[in-house]
This record gives sequence, C-alpha cells and structure tokens, in this order.
Amino acid sequence: IKRIGVMTSGGDSPGMNAAIRSVVRACAYYRAECIGIYRGYQGLIEGDFVSLTARSVNNIINKGGTILKSARSDEFRTKEGRKKAHENLVEHELHALVVIGGDGSFTGGVIFNKEFKFPIIGIPGTIDNDIFGTSHTLGYDTALNTAVEAIDKIRDTASSHNRLFFVEVMGRDAGFIALNAGVGAGAEEILIPEEDLGLKRMLESLKKSRRAGKSSSIVVVAEGDKSGKNVYELAQYVEENLPEYEVRVSVLGHMQRGGAPSCFDRVLASRLGVKAVELLLDNETNLMVGLKNNEVITTSLEEAIKGGHAINMELLRVSDIMTT
Ligand code: F6P
Repeated sequence: IKRIGVMTSGGDSPGMNAAIRSVVRACAYYRAECIGIYRGYQGLIEGDFVSLTARSVNNIINKGGTILKSARSDEFRTKEGRKKAHENLVEHELHALVVIGGDGSFTGGVIFNKEFKFPIIGIPGTIDNDIFGTSHTLGYDTALNTAVEAIDKIRDTASSHNRLFFVEVMGRDAGFIALNAGVGAGAEEILIPEEDLGLKRMLESLKKSRRAGKSSSIVVVAEGDKSGKNVYELAQYVEENLPEYEVRVSVLGHMQRGGAPSCFDRVLASRLGVKAVELLLDNETNLMVGLKNNEVITTSLEEAIKGGHAINMELLRVSDIMTT
C-alpha cells in the first residue's frame, strides 16, 4: 500500500481535523502518499481529491469542523454511485481508505469493501458516542463540554427567574450526551432513549424538588428521548400539570458539533490516526480503531455498526441521588 485516501463523512465532530492531520503525518512518516477526499463519499464519486503533505495540515489540530468538508451521500447508497467511486480510486491509484465518521459512514464502507475488496479502516468520529468498540468517539468529549458550558449559562438565568428549563441536547438515538452532560451540569432530571422512566415519575420528581425548597430546575432531554413528547410538548405538559412552575425550553442544536476540540479529543485523534495508517500498511482491513481502557484497540467494522451501545446506568442512579 503506497497511496492512502482519507475522508470525513456524515455529521462533523470536533477532532476530525486532528484525525486528518494524524493520518497525513503518519503517511508522511511511513513514506506513503496521502490523498484527501472532499465531502466524504460524495467527493469520492465526483473525484474531488487533493494531495496532502505533512505541511498541508499545519495549524489544524485546534480547529473544529473538517478541512475536507463532510456530507451524507445518497448517491453512494446506489450501486452505480459506488461503482463510480471505485473507478475514481483506481484511476487515481489509491490503494486504501481511512474513513472518519459514524455508523452510516461505516455501513457504506462495509458494503464498498464487500463489493470491491477495497481496504478500509474506520476512525469513529461523531459527537453521539453511539459506536460499539470504543469508549469514546471523536468529538464526544468536546460536545459534552460544550453542552455543560451552555447548561451552566442556562442555570444562571433559570435561577434568577425561578424557572424550570427543558434543555434538549443532541445524540440521535443515544443518550450519552444527555446523561453525562446532565450529571455534569447538575440536572434535576435526565430523559434518555435507553431508559424511559415515564412522565408521571418526572412530575413527581419535580414536585418533590419544589417541596425540598428548590426554586429553579433543569431537565436535560436527549433528542432521541422516547417519552412520546418532544421537548416543547414536555414543557407544556409540565406547565399544565404543575402550574407552580414557569417553564422555558432551550434546544442546544448544532452548536454542540462545533468549536475547538478538547485536549482529550486531540490526543485520541492523534492516536487513532496513526493506528489506522499502521494497520493499512500491515495489510489489515475492514477494522475500526477505537479506545478501551485507554488502549487503542480494533473492532471489525461490522461489529462496530451492529454491536449496539450500552449506556452507563450507574450514572442515572448517581443523578437520582444528586437530586435529593
Ligand atoms: O450524528 C451527529 C448528529 O449531530 C446527531 O446528534 C443529530 O441527530 C444529527 O447529527 C443532526 O444531523 P444534521 O446535521 O443533518 O441536522
């Protein structure tokens, strides 16, 4: 393997640039060429390539977003799209790909590898942390810190006005951001898709906290929460049932995807990028690199997608005890 392509795909996350830098520098170190592919699989189909040297990635370790841009490609879901992508790889004499992205990107990679036997290594990059085979995905730590910082600010105004705030955080179908940012920001209640505790319980808990003398509260809601009500409906439900509360809603949204990566994400990106290149140079393929007990490990891409994700229920218990 002499020429390695690198791309970022799906929803961007802080640390993707640090991972691109790591892949490019590891290639330079091992004297392999590195080619950047713009806009993920869509750029692969369109042949949107750029040659990257060690100096092309100066001063990006600290930058949010991705210099290679990202996209969710519908065309790559079609056989014709993937055929075009493969033709471009052959034409540009690329021998392997490093895909930085989430489960959608890895699913595309697995299908592509099956069809064309093209070597692929995945680096988990998503704020959602919903990938099996790694304790942390790139960007998750930064997104947590962004969410906690935002909720801290909401707490200030909630407290000044004696209000109850519902704060919606991202995470798609997973509750990692909600649970961890909720505990970190001292939320009264945390609603996550993995554990639907029911709305009655939430009302009881809010009543209890009023009785206990709390004048303001924060409820963190995962966007994938399964209560059957969206965050605005939840707020209305509480206002109707507990008129003593003045309720407001804040949806944090895409701010959670931006910003400078935390030191943790930069270090993780650097470690995973090096490992990805080393695996390809050792003729390994169809693997995802990840972190477990602070060791870099590999998982098959198939397992990474299908393995599911386990939320830390002990944290929910801790959160319950903290609201006493
Ligand atoms: O997967 C990352 C993520 O930010 C999710 O948390 C969220 O559900 C989704 O992407 C939003 O996607 P889009 O950027 O297409 O609105």
